[in-house]
Amino acid sequence: MMKIVKTIEEVRAQVKEWKSQGLTVGLVPTMGYLHEGHASLIDTSCRDNDRTVVSDFVNPMQFGPGEDLESYPRDMEHDAALAQEHGCDLIFHPDPDEMYHDGFSTFVDMTVLTEELCGLSRPVHFRGVCTVVSKLFNIVKPDRAYFGKKDAQQLAVIRHMVDDLNMDIEIVGCPIVRESDGLAKSSRNTYLDENERKAALVLSKSIFNGMELVRNGEKDCAVITDSMKKLIASEPLAKIDYVKLVDMKTMQQIEKLDRPALCAIAVYIGKTRLIDNFFTEDV
Ligand code: PAJ
Repeated sequence: MMKIVKTIEEVRAQVKEWKSQGLTVGLVPTMGYLHEGHASLIDTSCRDNDRTVVSDFVNPMQFGPGEDLESYPRDMEHDAALAQEHGCDLIFHPDPDEMYHDGFSTFVDMTVLTEELCGLSRPVHFRGVCTVVSKLFNIVKPDRAYFGKKDAQQLAVIRHMVDDLNMDIEIVGCPIVRESDGLAKSSRNTYLDENERKAALVLSKSIFNGMELVRNGEKDCAVITDSMKKLIASEPLAKIDYVKLVDMKTMQQIEKLDRPALCAIAVYIGKTRLIDNFFTEDV
């Protein structure tokens, strides 16, 4: 039977009991409002581990001023049902005070990788992500942790943090889950009205266009990104934040496709900022 707990102490007690029985533990960090993308991470964790913990916490630290912290969608009842259906054993759903007590003042702050792509328009975002994920790793002490390729830069940042700080946790990257028409699933898709929902299809269309060019052997990054930008520009409701090809590990922009790369885009549809991507090794 799945449990939902709100305190660090309860998580620690449960995980300690599991470990004393020799069971392995997988962690799926989320901000809730769970959908099939999150579910695929839970499925993979349940396949690889004896027990799976899902954290469900809208982390205030990773939202910048003027971002959508207050309006971020929440539905704990739905989350509990979905997580249980997919085999989760424990949901950790702390209040912000439980994670950030008075006087909290220690941060995990990464340079270089976090200064590209989403880091340019969201300067405090990855510091918030690295700090909360470090805390979750210390609280749950999982054997493995699961992250979606949907947030490709986040995945690269977490892998780098685990390597830099010698965290003894295996990071598993999971494929992007899409709606039937191609739009990458995201909790933020709920912000889109009917017209915006249609317009949002330019993201996946441009991703599929980029993938096709790579599949056909195109090596010039500018040719690929120009074609994708042109496609996005044809949609009046869309405004490009970035369309870039970067080295998969360092997140630094490249000109020729001569190494494993990530093609990442961020596009505003009305007020909603959406992201999508592909790894060249997956095309
Ligand atoms: P959140 O946006 O809730 O996403 C939780 C996890 O689900 C992330 O690893 C994300 O990449 C993955 N995910 C989201 N949509 C997906 C999709 N369509 N296909 C596959 N995976 C998908 O990412 C965060 O929360 C936070 O930054 C967090 C890591 C929890 C730290 O607060």
